[in-house]
Amino acid sequence: MKRLAVLISGRGSNLEALLGAIQRYGWPIEVACVISNRPNAGGLDIARSKGIPTEVIDHTQFSDRSAFDNALIHRLEAQQPDLVVLAGFMRLLTAEFCARFRHRLVNIHPSLLPAFKGLQTHQQAIDAGVRIHGCTVHLVTAELDHGPILAQAAVSVRHDDTAEALAARVLKMEHEIYPKAIAAWLSGQLTVEDDRIIDRGEGAFPTGFMSCQLHPDLA
Ligand code: GAR
Repeated sequence: MKRLAVLISGRGSNLEALLGAIQRYGWPIEVACVISNRPNAGGLDIARSKGIPTEVIDHTQFSDRSAFDNALIHRLEAQQPDLVVLAGFMRLLTAEFCARFRHRLVNIHPSLLPAFKGLQTHQQAIDAGVRIHGCTVHLVTAELDHGPILAQAAVSVRHDDTAEALAARVLKMEHEIYPKAIAAWLSGQLTVEDDRIIDRGEGAFPTGFMSCQLHPDLA
């Protein structure tokens, strides 16, 4: 059984999708704990309703980023996770944290990286006039929204899109690809070479799943 620690800051829809997929596909994966940096994160209720241990490490109670990250490292080490999953965790992590969990730390970002790093990614996409937008699952490095890419999903950008409408379509795809990318990475059949994920095509991803997914709009 592979153990996950999931870090959240908000509503937790990706956490919920992950828990649903683990149950639906019967993967030998368990979410050992959910940690939030915000006491009122909605995702904490999702975890509690499934009987998953939760913890709040409130970043406002720490003098600086490094003190917060050290507390987080301490709590995570106690859980001995195989993988730390960032699911809407809206804190920058120190280089020390990223090094400690090198290749054991994954994130989902709501854009087709390397485009549109940072915040308000859907508005960034609309403002740039791109026709295709999406989301990316990647291993985390010390550089913001950067690291070997495990999976991406694309949606079309409509001429009358708002950031909210676009975000909703992207989120649907996030829920599709994040659990499957996590399962694939945990399968141990993917490797990292020169900052890229190498998939030798030996069935790392669940049957029928490609690491590049298209919204039905684009298929
Ligand atoms: C998701 O859209 C995720 O991609 C984004 O926050 C949202 C969290 O939603 N993450 C980032 O922007 C990280 N840079 P959720 O709490 O419902 O999973």
